[in-house]
Amino acid sequence: MARLGFLQAELDSIREQGLWNTIRTVESPQGSWFVVNGQRVLNLCSNNYLGLADDTTLKEAAKAAVDRFGVGPGAVRSISGTQSLHLELEERLARFKGTEATIVLQSGFTANTTTIPAVTGEGDLIFSDELNHASIIDGCRLSKAKVVRHAHNDAADLQRQIQAAGECRRRLVITDGVFSMDGDLAPLPALLEVARKYDCMTMVDDAHGEGVLGDHGRGIVDHYGLVNEIDIEIGTLSKAFGVVGGYVAGSRLLIDYLKQRGRPFLFSTGPTPADVAACLAAVDLLEASDDRVQRLWENARYFKGKMHAAGFDTGKSETPITPVMIGDAAKASQLSRELFEAGVYAQSISFPTVARGKARIRAMISAVHSREDLDFAVEHFTVVGRRLGLV
Ligand SMILES: Cc1ncc(COP(=O)(O)O)c(C=O)c1O
Repeated sequence: MARLGFLQAELDSIREQGLWNTIRTVESPQGSWFVVNGQRVLNLCSNNYLGLADDTTLKEAAKAAVDRFGVGPGAVRSISGTQSLHLELEERLARFKGTEATIVLQSGFTANTTTIPAVTGEGDLIFSDELNHASIIDGCRLSKAKVVRHAHNDAADLQRQIQAAGECRRRLVITDGVFSMDGDLAPLPALLEVARKYDCMTMVDDAHGEGVLGDHGRGIVDHYGLVNEIDIEIGTLSKAFGVVGGYVAGSRLLIDYLKQRGRPFLFSTGPTPADVAACLAAVDLLEASDDRVQRLWENARYFKGKMHAAGFDTGKSETPITPVMIGDAAKASQLSRELFEAGVYAQSISFPTVARGKARIRAMISAVHSREDLDFAVEHFTVVGRRLGLV
């Protein structure tokens, strides 16, 4: 115990700085409303963009897969854990994304930490947006490449950084597609133009674009009309797809290589039959109909319009991620707390996740919210916001 005593000092310091992360307990399925810490509240904080996390078709698919394949894959995929379902999902995802191939992994986080160290190493340079997700940062740390950060969404700064960095063996330009705290989009065409000029590999993490942007939710690369122009696409199956898992999409060459050299693929057991079957059902639904994606965008536009009319600033979001900008961390956390008491669960986000003075409430809109749900949210944001002098 004494050897771990330093952890107590760390925890005390986290508490003193007001950075303690209180983790609430969910006691029902994810939906527009759910039960949290015993209270039924409106859900404005999940990534369940299309409402698939509790979809009947996905649940039936998962149950059927358990009956046919059991609950666990039994081994890492490279030994005896690749089930026909995994291969089927990889083929269907490749068709959905319009790439030659995909590899399915345990999570979106793992997809980044698998890929980055596999394609870069000593003597290479990685050019990474300063606001890239933690899983990209950790993937870069696992690579022996040197990491150079460029200003957020700034292709001109990317070019300056590439020029200043000089010669190297290989270069990788890597960015989030949708930035999860602001909901803004990476300027992929401009980044790609610079990357091409300097012969850089390109990689985009589409975690929050999948199921949201592009035709039938095919993601940011489709949104920009760049299918097969970006070398490496990372996807997650745990947000709009409503399940859990991650994948990499790209050329057959890339995917063959990751199946030989991707360490989490080789050394960690893959997704379960239930997860994979539910993801297959999600791909079916997305291919068959764009309705959910359209409803998501209608809801996002409706909510943002109402929040603006009520006097709130929703930042620079271009997606259903709606940051309600507050500034002061204590005020944002008080707003979140009082909203929860009023029946609206919307998470406050502050330093170190966002810059100091940029605290906000992040409202996550879903296709399954009704107009009444969104009106309920705006009403309570307004009442509590007025009481706190925010609007
Ligand atoms: C940009 C980005 N990449 C990756 C991930 C991780 O995805 P997963 O939850 O599937 O591990 C997230 C999740 O928050 C994300 O926002």
